[in-house]
Order: sequence, then structure tokens, then C-alpha cells
Amino acid sequence: MKGIILHGGHGTRLRPLTHTGPKQLLPIANKPMSQYCLDAIAETGITEIAIIVGGIGANKVREFYGDGSNFGVKITYIEQDEPRGIAHAIRLCKNFVDNQKFLVFLGDNIIQKSITTFTETFKNSNYDATVLLCEVDNPSRFGIADVENEKITKITEKPKNPTSNLAVTGIYFLTPRIFEIIDELKPSWRNELEITDALDNLLKINNNISYEKITDYWKDTGTPDDILHANGEIINKHPKFQSQHITDNSLDTKNLKIINNVILGTNCELGQNVTIQGPVIIGNNCKILEKSTIGPNTSIGDNSIISASLIQNSIIMQNCKINSTTEIKDSIIANNSEIKDGSTTEKVFLLGEGSKISL
Ligand code: G1P
Repeated sequence: MKGIILHGGHGTRLRPLTHTGPKQLLPIANKPMSQYCLDAIAETGITEIAIIVGGIGANKVREFYGDGSNFGVKITYIEQDEPRGIAHAIRLCKNFVDNQKFLVFLGDNIIQKSITTFTETFKNSNYDATVLLCEVDNPSRFGIADVENEKITKITEKPKNPTSNLAVTGIYFLTPRIFEIIDELKPSWRNELEITDALDNLLKINNNISYEKITDYWKDTGTPDDILHANGEIINKHPKFQSQHITDNSLDTKNLKIINNVILGTNCELGQNVTIQGPVIIGNNCKILEKSTIGPNTSIGDNSIISASLIQNSIIMQNCKINSTTEIKDSIIANNSEIKDGSTTEKVFLLGEGSKISL
């Protein structure tokens, strides 16, 4: 089987964070979100992966993943010149797929569990497609599957009046059969070739699509709140991180409180009277100084310095400097930003790269 990661789009709901790069490279627990997809695909044993790039910062994607050798896979880059939909992006991969079964992972979808068993089951099945479904509270925002007697009967993109709460997640197991269907597709109301329309047409032709359910965690990280939510969940529960959680006893610094799941990078300095309330991840070479309180649900990127500040439910990326009496909550602060002083008690920030703020 082969793998495909969709890495294009403009990430408009995440501006200004996406002015300097694609949203799929924004970090969740200090790691680009699309790397979770790549690692999950690599874990299934698939070694050939196409990354579809387009929109802002395609060069950053190539720079980060290179030829894939650092990640144990071989990467082919395929350009999508305009955001013309998921089905359009998949169609661009016909030659790459080379008549094999394949797996598509949207680079902004985050899950915690392995997809290896789903992949094996699909590989050994005769299904034309397998989709992963997950119950959601807001079905109008997703592709939705109606299911009767454990069979999918209909798939609809963002229905206004949903008749089911089962979202079709952005992880699709497909066969080359889908290419013929995509060739016949008409653009949707948002002028995109929708994968959900392709799947629904396939369903009408031969009713040969199966599904599996994700029952623990799945998030489509379209908004800052989604990203912040995924950040806390992943630090807390992703199998990669569980073994790395530290305890207060493992550090000998005085007056330092470590509570719940905290992951600490190498070469960090933790000052006096600091409290770190997990889930928190702190990258390498960070300084957390003078009565700072970090967490819960917070990540601090490599080389950042936080002094005398309170930061909760936030993502601070790399090389940031924060020294402020203003409480920073529910915020995302991109690389090389600085916040100092303080004039208000509490504030939400969404700061693009290199922002400098004196309050
Ligand atoms: C896309 C798909 C939708 C799916 C979602 C999952 O939506 O069109 O069917 O449920 O991804 O992340 P979009 O992110 O384009 O709104």
C-alpha cells in the first residue's frame, strides 16, 4: 500500500499564524501536526508517501520532511496549484499510487491511536473503500455518514440538517477504483471536488464501503481552539508521550511544583517557586524562571524563556521571550515573539511569527 498526506490550503481561520507557513506545520505538543500523520502511516509499514503541497509555505514542507529519510520513509511531493478539493488532490496521485491500495490522511487531522490494525484489515479486504467515523457534536461542519444495520447508506458533505452525528474523518482507505469516480465528479457549492461526493457515488454504484469507528480522540484542527484542545490531549494521552511524563521527585530544584503529566526537554533551567501544572510539554534549552506558573494544557517550544509569567491552555512556539504580569490564556504565540510588561490582568493572544508586544 501507499500513503498520501494532504498538506495544502490557506488556513484562513488560523491567520496570522498561517501567514508564514502552512497550518499543518503548526506544532501540537512541540511537533508539527502533520508529523503525527506521517508517523502513523510509517507505523503501518507503508514506506512510500506522497505529500500534496500547495498554498502558503510549500517550500517549508519540503524543507522539514526532505526526502523522508529522517522519518524512515520515501517522500514524493505533488503540487496542487489551487485548492480544488480533497478529491482533486487525490486524483493528482494516480501515477504515484500505481494501481495499489492506498491510505489518505489529511495533514490537519489528529488522532491518538495507531491505524495499523485498520490498515491491515483494509489490505486483506475486498472493500473499495473504508472510512473512519467519529461521533461529533457539530455534524454540519463535517462530511457525515448515515449508517443503518452497520452499513453506510449515505455520505453527505456538511449537511444543513444532519440526520447522523457520525463524521467522516480525514483518514480514508481507498483503491484505484476511486479515480474513475473522481473523473466524473462535479464541483460542489464551495467549488471543490469533494471526497465525500466521490464516496457517496461509489456507494451508489456498488455499496462496497466499510467503516470503522474512532472511539477515543479525533480532531480536525481548523481553529485555534481546536489546536489548543488537541495540544492538551496529545501531551496527556498520546502513546509517544506517556512514557516521558516526569514527576516532582525526579528533579532536585527547590520550591518547584510539578503536577500531573509534564514532559521536560533537555538542558532546561527551572527557577525558584515555579509551578508546572500538567499536561505541559517544555522543549529543549528553555528557561522557566521566577515564580512562573505554566499549564495546564500548555506547550513551550525549544529555546524559549518565560519569566514571572502565568501561561495557561496555550502554545508558545520556539525562541519566544515572555516576561509579563498579564496572564496569558488560550493563546497561540508563534516563533521568535516577545511579550513584556503588563497592563491588563488577562489576555488572549494569537501572534504570528516575530511579534513584539509591550503591554
Ligand atoms: C474535510 C472534508 C470533510 C471531513 C473533514 C475532516 O472538510 O471535506 O468531509 O469531515 O475534512 O477533517 P474541510 O476541512 O475541508 O472543511
